[in-house]
Amino acid sequence: MNEQAPDVPPNAEQIEYWNGPVGLRWLAYNDWLDERTAAYGRAAFAAAAPEPGEAVLDIGCGAGATSFELARAVGASGSVTGVDISAPLLGRARERAAAHGLNVEFREADASRPSFAPHSFDLLFSRFGVMFFDDPAAAFAELRKTLKPGGRLAFACWQEPQLNDWYELPLAAIADLVERTPVDTRQPGPFAFSDPEHIREVLAQAGFVGVELAPFATPFYLGRGATREAMADDAMEQVFRVGPIARLLESQSEQINAKAREAIRAALSKIAGDDGLEVGGAIWVVTARAD
Ligand SMILES: C[S@@+](CC[C@H](N)C(=O)[O-])C[C@H]1O[C@@H](n2cnc3c(N)ncnc32)[C@H](O)[C@@H]1O
Repeated sequence: MNEQAPDVPPNAEQIEYWNGPVGLRWLAYNDWLDERTAAYGRAAFAAAAPEPGEAVLDIGCGAGATSFELARAVGASGSVTGVDISAPLLGRARERAAAHGLNVEFREADASRPSFAPHSFDLLFSRFGVMFFDDPAAAFAELRKTLKPGGRLAFACWQEPQLNDWYELPLAAIADLVERTPVDTRQPGPFAFSDPEHIREVLAQAGFVGVELAPFATPFYLGRGATREAMADDAMEQVFRVGPIARLLESQSEQINAKAREAIRAALSKIAGDDGLEVGGAIWVVTARAD
């Protein structure tokens, strides 16, 4: 858990982060990211098994792709609420809902705060939206209260960095250029729930029962294109705009940035294949229930 000064609201750093330049970059790359993360979301969706008529909360829904899938599954007799702290991503979600004619309520709120009436939902779902809480056990305890008795939780979160080459490969390519800070898997961030013991501990503390973790792995398409060069260009665009490399290189000199581009491009070109530039990606599909 993050130590927080008493007058700083929980998740203040993440609220700033997802509403600042990062939120805008995610918005710019939203279609790209939706396509790349769709398969992982589908694995969690299958485990969630939403039924017609159910009330669902999509936690950290971003621009809403999974909320729309959930809305189609629960139908007109059900309801879907997407909650997120990022105003720009929610803006896109609302536009898309109107364009698709889908009835999803999007709410700008911190999912870890008591924003919803107790026993509102049959299902809490998330694709990569639950790894950013300062105090995950407290956050999940609040979320659990919003479930009806016997209600379900299902989410996707990344497994350890070593199994996720979309993260590891570019970092390894610039190991000689930039000092790497080890990932702290207990701090908010993409790998905050990579340790299975930590997930079990957090969910047990939050009062969930029947916690199960299923590993799921499928290639992550870093780049697409007609040629290897085009694939590497596509991948470079993303690696340098969203995610950990972009963050790491922000504070480095132009010279280091230029060398890093060269090194990463060389590493990416090497692995581009006939079907695209694909790298390893592995998640946990986590399911649990409220008593
Ligand atoms: C990695 S993105 C995933 C977005 C979306 N689920 C998707 O798959 O495209 C993480 C999302 O979680 C949101 N988020 C982070 N902390 C949150 C919190 N405390 N409450 C609600 N949303 C949060 C971020 O704003 C961001 O949209």
